[in-house]
Amino acid sequence: MEIERLSTGVKGLDEILNGGIPKGFTVAVVGEPGTGKTVFCIHFIASGLSSGDKGIYVTTEESRESIVRQAEMFDFDFRKAIKNGELVIIDALMEERGDPWSLRELEVEELLSKIIEAKKMLGYGHARVVVDSMSAFWLDKPAMARKYSYMVKRVLSKWDVTTILTSQYAVTTSLGFGFGVEHVADGIIRFRKSIISGVLKRFVIIEKMRQTDHDRRVFEIDIVNGKGMVVLGPYKVSRSDLSLPFSVLAKMIEAEYKKEKELVSTDELED
Ligand SMILES: Nc1ncnc2c1ncn2[C@@H]1O[C@H](COP(=O)(O)OP(=O)(O)OP(=O)(O)O)[C@@H](O)[C@H]1O
Ligand SMILES: [Mg+2]
Repeated sequence: MEIERLSTGVKGLDEILNGGIPKGFTVAVVGEPGTGKTVFCIHFIASGLSSGDKGIYVTTEESRESIVRQAEMFDFDFRKAIKNGELVIIDALMEERGDPWSLRELEVEELLSKIIEAKKMLGYGHARVVVDSMSAFWLDKPAMARKYSYMVKRVLSKWDVTTILTSQYAVTTSLGFGFGVEHVADGIIRFRKSIISGVLKRFVIIEKMRQTDHDRRVFEIDIVNGKGMVVLGPYKVSRSDLSLPFSVLAKMIEAEYKKEKELVSTDELED
């Protein structure tokens, strides 16, 4: 059976994905701050809107206005899509009363019920859902990351949606704040950045995409004013370009692991 694939909207990325993201998937988009996760999500939603999909964008780190403005810079008119009833941007920051599309609390249950409410409002048909970022929902309880991610995937699987969940990686360790999304996701799109010869370069690698013969190379990308994210081509990275010396990394992983274990045991005490 031919798998239906959705264009990511990023020029050059669909080829790397052997045609795009399989419809119905839950995909983790991960990376350190400023690597392009939000820009990618904006493309994914915009591409959906232009092909008749509805869009639901949950933003926890930036305001709705900020997402609209960022989209505008790449020539996507999110304001119009909202007005036309094709797009809902759920703003988790806004505490303004009376705004129906905001979250009162950063709770996963509330997130899910808002997404479903938005889906019902947008009506019949497939919708692209973005939660940017999921990390916000477990910042104070990273041990819950996996359980929450699983919950989101399970509940949304009953609806006609394809979902992107972003997850932030710490600057120092490049590790997630509580691994979660990666484990339950059908795919992982990993963004990276690195300073090479004094210039900030950005990269993307598909770490996993079920049912897909995806490219396994690192690709250099760029974010261009007026255009957005573009894939420049495969990049030959040396280990030292992207990773910390192994001994340092090992220590950091150990510390991170300890921290998580402690958090798990505190959680158990609370239960
Ligand atoms: N109009 C533009 N022209 C060129 N580059 C831009 C433009 N708008 C944004 N960028 C680039 O995109 C970067 C932000 O990317 P993005 O917001 O997607 O990162 P992120 O991975 O979501 O980060 P965070 O985890 O902090 O949310 C900026 O730092 C800038 O380099
Ligand atoms: Mg972001």
